[in-house]
Amino acid sequence: MMTRLVCLGPIALLAGIAAASPPVQPHAPGIESPGYVWNAPNEEQMIALAHRADPANGEEAYAVCRGCHQADGSGRGDAIYPQLAGQHASVLIKQMVDVRAGRRDNPKMHPFVAEWVVSSEEVADIAAYLAQLPIPPTNLKGEGTDLARGESLYVKDCATCHGAQGEGDAAEFYPRVAHQHYSYLDHESKLIRDGGRRNANPEMVKAIKGYSDADIAAVSDYMSRLTAESRPE
Ligand code: HEC
Ligand code: HEC
Repeated sequence: MMTRLVCLGPIALLAGIAAASPPVQPHAPGIESPGYVWNAPNEEQMIALAHRADPANGEEAYAVCRGCHQADGSGRGDAIYPQLAGQHASVLIKQMVDVRAGRRDNPKMHPFVAEWVVSSEEVADIAAYLAQLPIPPTNLKGEGTDLARGESLYVKDCATCHGAQGEGDAAEFYPRVAHQHYSYLDHESKLIRDGGRRNANPEMVKAIKGYSDADIAAVSDYMSRLTAESRPE
């Protein structure tokens, strides 16, 4: 009898662990798949966009996000957690929906933003809450040594979508890039260039394809200094 218990123990324990751990992030086709359409209409995004958002409920639902993105939505430049405060609600909704569906890979964040933690309506509530927060005054910037090159690249290849001051475009789902952490902008730009951000806009991938790492560092530094209202600091 004792022997049986000893034998079954580890199996029961393993089964218990398997049942308790959340399912892995799903995988959906993205830019690597032929016929990929950027921002194709999908049910969850339509539900979230149509929802009459409640920022007070969003503030509560945001509690699980604070550990990484911080209570004021300022993120963490050193850990490459993006600033979310002041981002367009439409952009926040699209990115959350894409992570939930598996079009944007983020296995680390997925357990916190998955549908068993946050409902489709709460996605919109959180986005509305974050969008109205003030853009935090400090963010991580680059070394500031190559800003002229950063500006000319940005004006030539990026400003048509992200705006002259980095303000983005809510109606088009183009993110605000002004005053975002340099580390995050640099990391995402490389992912976009190399096909690793699978929900990216193909026009942007074309625009950034020929960039060296130094080009990306320069343009990211420039974007991190845009304030959406004025010239870079
Ligand atoms: C374990 C840390 C962690 C937690 C908890 C977390 N996130 Fe994130 N989040 C990240 C990281 C890291 C990224 C950037 C991933 C990348 O490099 O593409 C990110 C990216 C995002 C983005 C994309 C921003 C953009 O500009 O494209 C949104 C939106 C977001 N998170 C919202 C949330 C919300 C809402 C919650 C809570 C429900 C949450 N996150 C919880 C780590 C986290
Ligand atoms: C055709 C319009 C377009 C152009 C041109 C464009 N972008 Fe983007 N950019 C987008 C869209 C749309 C997104 C969000 C993509 C998605 O759905 O994931 C984005 C996202 C980003 C992000 C991630 C922001 C975040 O909050 O996660 C960075 C960084 C970025 N772009 C940098 C650039 C740079 C640098 C250039 C110029 C070399 C550029 N983009 C040109 C449309 C564009």
